[in-house]
Amino acid sequence: MTTTPRFFNTAGPCDPVRHYGIDPLARFPEAIALIDWQGCFVLHAPRQTGKTPTLRALAKALTEEGRFAAPLFSCEAGEAVSDDVGEVEGALLRQIAMTAEDDLPEALRPPPVVSAPVGVQLSSNLRAWCRSCPKPVVLFFDEIDALRDDGLRTVLRQLRASYATRAPHAVILCGLRDVRDYRMASGGKGRLGTSSPFNINVASTRMPSFTEAQVRELLVQHTEATGQPFSEGALERVFYYTQGQPWLTNALAAEVVDHLGVTGEITAAHIDRAKENLVLARAEGRGARFELVDGSIASEIAPHPVIPRV
Ligand SMILES: Nc1ncnc2c1ncn2[C@@H]1O[C@H](COP(=O)(O)OP(=O)(O)O)[C@@H](O)[C@H]1O
Ligand SMILES: [Mg+2]
Repeated sequence: MTTTPRFFNTAGPCDPVRHYGIDPLARFPEAIALIDWQGCFVLHAPRQTGKTPTLRALAKALTEEGRFAAPLFSCEAGEAVSDDVGEVEGALLRQIAMTAEDDLPEALRPPPVVSAPVGVQLSSNLRAWCRSCPKPVVLFFDEIDALRDDGLRTVLRQLRASYATRAPHAVILCGLRDVRDYRMASGGKGRLGTSSPFNINVASTRMPSFTEAQVRELLVQHTEATGQPFSEGALERVFYYTQGQPWLTNALAAEVVDHLGVTGEITAAHIDRAKENLVLARAEGRGARFELVDGSIASEIAPHPVIPRV
């Protein structure tokens, strides 16, 4: 049996068969307790920190354990229509139905959407689903930043109303915003303008970067697969430059492994060269993957990703 060699992923969804990776569930160990006890929480972090794979793994695990019906879906479909409440509700309901079709066993999927007045379409359909579903429903709203103003306000208002009766059992909002920023994004006005997207104080968890141990764990997967070692200095330096930012860690490793053509041990000097290449490529705007560390998120991605060690 031949196995396809794995590589460092710098684009697209993480796939443990094709890519080196850190167990996504290990990155957010408190999630299950938050779902069990609190029901709703916000997971936030800058782009490219691995929020989606972590929540995807969590949703899959919750569904497969047989305790919950837990779909993860993106709110991106609501972006273009965010100022039209009815369209946003429709887009989300369609997204939930499609995700449920792909990821949930048939018995747990929502019933066909029924019409309801604009402004309660989401809550009434969620309510019908939660009543008919044999398992408690846990909803993961990914890319919630795609919604704003009226669209965001109506979704949050309906989720609040639904959550008050614990239908669904839990709601997780995932995106760039911390809890306190929801008020601003929803227009900062109206009855929804309290500091929490729910009526209660909720946990607002920031997705952490990789620890130094996780960076080493990721890099060593390449050594185990190919026999090519990293020197101790090289391992230290990858963490120094990236501070464990997940995308940057993969990008630096991919640069050294896939593009520098190093044979034998990878040293700190090789990591320095790879880092220079990333900086140059970013400055020249070459390649889509370098745009990911561009602009306003660059400083958040790592405190000093581009400063040579002195
Ligand atoms: N569990 C993981 N193991 C290894 N690398 C990861 C993992 N999760 C994320 N990454 C890296 O982070 C990048 C961004 O992941 P992504 O899912 O797009 O994050 P987000 O949803 O936070 O924007 C991936 O392309 C990959 O390089
Ligand atoms: Mg994402």
